[in-house]
Amino acid sequence: MEATLSLEGKVAVVTGASRGIGRAIAVELAKRGAAVVVNYNRSADKAQEVVETIRNAGGKAEAFQADVSYFDQAKALIDFAVKTFGGLHILVNNAGITRDNLIMLMKEEDWDEVIRVNLKSTFNCSKAAVRHMMRKRWGRIINITSVSGQIGNAGQTNYSASKAGQIGFTKALAREVASRNITVNAIAAGYIETDIWEGVPEDAIKSLMSMIPLGRKGEPEEIAYAVAFLASDQAAYITGQVLGVDGGMAMA
Ligand SMILES: NC(=O)c1ccc[n+]([C@@H]2O[C@H](COP(=O)([O-])OP(=O)(O)OC[C@H]3O[C@@H](n4cnc5c(N)ncnc54)[C@H](OP(=O)(O)O)[C@@H]3O)[C@@H](O)[C@H]2O)c1
Repeated sequence: MEATLSLEGKVAVVTGASRGIGRAIAVELAKRGAAVVVNYNRSADKAQEVVETIRNAGGKAEAFQADVSYFDQAKALIDFAVKTFGGLHILVNNAGITRDNLIMLMKEEDWDEVIRVNLKSTFNCSKAAVRHMMRKRWGRIINITSVSGQIGNAGQTNYSASKAGQIGFTKALAREVASRNITVNAIAAGYIETDIWEGVPEDAIKSLMSMIPLGRKGEPEEIAYAVAFLASDQAAYITGQVLGVDGGMAMA
């Protein structure tokens, strides 16, 4: 009998899986039996380490370099997954960056880059992935968004807009592909301990902490468990939703 929440026989692509939340998602999906493509942009060694971690635990994984903010590279990533593992069932749009500044000081290129890497990449990978999922009449697309896209955050107009954009995208695509048995959901992460917080001033962190009812930061693995659930057969009746994994920061 197959275990509940098993992903045995499934193929997953996780974008930005060399570090942080993406790394934890790749490891968790592989632990549940999925063959995982570990996408990275710059951190080749770290991506290889994620692949080795998965393989040493008896799982299947391959690393693939692609800057997913460009459509051709995103398509190459999806094609690699299909060619290497024979299909594609789960896409996790996780790659993301911040370029924080107050709007008066924000450079136009910092706006453009954040929208391109966080939001355009979600379009790029989903567009390339959906046709494979449609053919199989089974698919899971999970977009990693943020409380910043729900409640806003001063100094993050670019980031908040990109993350709110992912939420709108999630709902629209969920309606488009539901008839093909493809679900599309988002996870709105709160304050999760990763490199993305490097350089954020101490007082900003303090004020953020004061907004978390559970009174602590989250771990990357706590996002990964939610992704694994949404990717499973047991989550088949959930689509177009935004699941907050944020210690209670942004209650709807
Ligand atoms: N940490 C949090 O508190 C938090 C909260 C809410 C939402 N999120 C979201 O969660 C996601 C992961 O964040 P994180 O905290 O894990 O960040 P992180 O530790 O800085 O890791 C970012 C990952 O994204 C990859 N990446 C960046 N640009 C890319 C591109 N153009 N193409 C492919 N991969 C790219 C990086 O790959 P390389 O190193 O290989 O370049 C890295 O693996 C992001 O979408 C972020 O917005 C995070």
